[in-house]
Amino acid sequence: MSVREAVAVAHPNVALSKYWGKREGPGNYPAVPSLSVTLSGMTTRTRVRWRDDLPGDRVVLDGRELCAQQGWRALALVDRVRRELGVGAHAEVESRNDFPTASGLASSASGFAALALAAVASCSEAWDAARVSDLARVASASAARSLFGGFVELDAGPPSPRGGEVLAARPVAPPEHLPLVVLVCVTTEGPKAVGSTDGMRATLARSPYARAWLEYAPRAHAELRRALLARDFEAVGELAEASALAMHASAIAGGLVYWTGATVEALAAVRAVRAGGTPAFATVDAGPHVKVLVRPQDAAGVRVTMGGVPGVLRVIEAPPGAGARVERAQRADAREAS
Ligand code: PMV
Repeated sequence: MSVREAVAVAHPNVALSKYWGKREGPGNYPAVPSLSVTLSGMTTRTRVRWRDDLPGDRVVLDGRELCAQQGWRALALVDRVRRELGVGAHAEVESRNDFPTASGLASSASGFAALALAAVASCSEAWDAARVSDLARVASASAARSLFGGFVELDAGPPSPRGGEVLAARPVAPPEHLPLVVLVCVTTEGPKAVGSTDGMRATLARSPYARAWLEYAPRAHAELRRALLARDFEAVGELAEASALAMHASAIAGGLVYWTGATVEALAAVRAVRAGGTPAFATVDAGPHVKVLVRPQDAAGVRVTMGGVPGVLRVIEAPPGAGARVERAQRADAREAS
């Protein structure tokens, strides 16, 4: 029997210099460059299986089947793979996160990275990592970065994209380059109210600070990249916190508040830790959770402090981790399994 199936795992990443805002035009190109660290300790595992007996493609996320409207990005990704690799079957996608989905913990980054890799690996060995990263980027730009481990960069897209230009993330430094731990302070287990695509659109359309953000982000990115390459933990932390605050300032001015009381409490706690002499820096994505950057030797103490902040439900400790990988692939019959 001919079986085409692959399982891939990927981890979320947290952007130190944030991507917020898309180019106008097709193809989902970021308007600003970004630099992230891929995390270990949180995992998405995705299986893609091509089946002749299915009437259409199916996407099941955390045990729940998505309708076409909910799963459109995954369906579009799978459809592109089918067309480009000439597959004559429908795809069954099953994906699981071991952390809250769609709540600002970057499940779209790990989710689409794992999906892109599993979809391609189930059909072909010929695509290089950059091509898979580009495939993931079209679904979610941050996912392009989760294909790689350690510190990873994604350029801004072309000024007037036509939609077919390849734009892949690339690794900047391996996980061990800068010893740090990200303390993910989970403040809700539920999904966020406004997804990042709508949030970016609202910011660029309505925020009086949108232009300021688009001018600031590339400069901050270049500075952060330099600090990272110099292994300057404190400069990286300061610049990462500044990037997150500038991103949220522009979003908030457009009417979009991802923060809750717990976010503000956690940000204050990070400042208090810093005032006490321990270098700790905060970043926040499109959700209420605060992610704290600390040196490994300070992680245990700061974790206890953050765990005691009102509204923080639990703290996940995530050091820099590896990129996405194929766990299992079977492309024709059992003898060809790798
Ligand atoms: O690529 P998306 O749609 O998951 O957007 C990511 C947006 C942020 O997480 C807030 C920033 C980033 O660079 O990851």
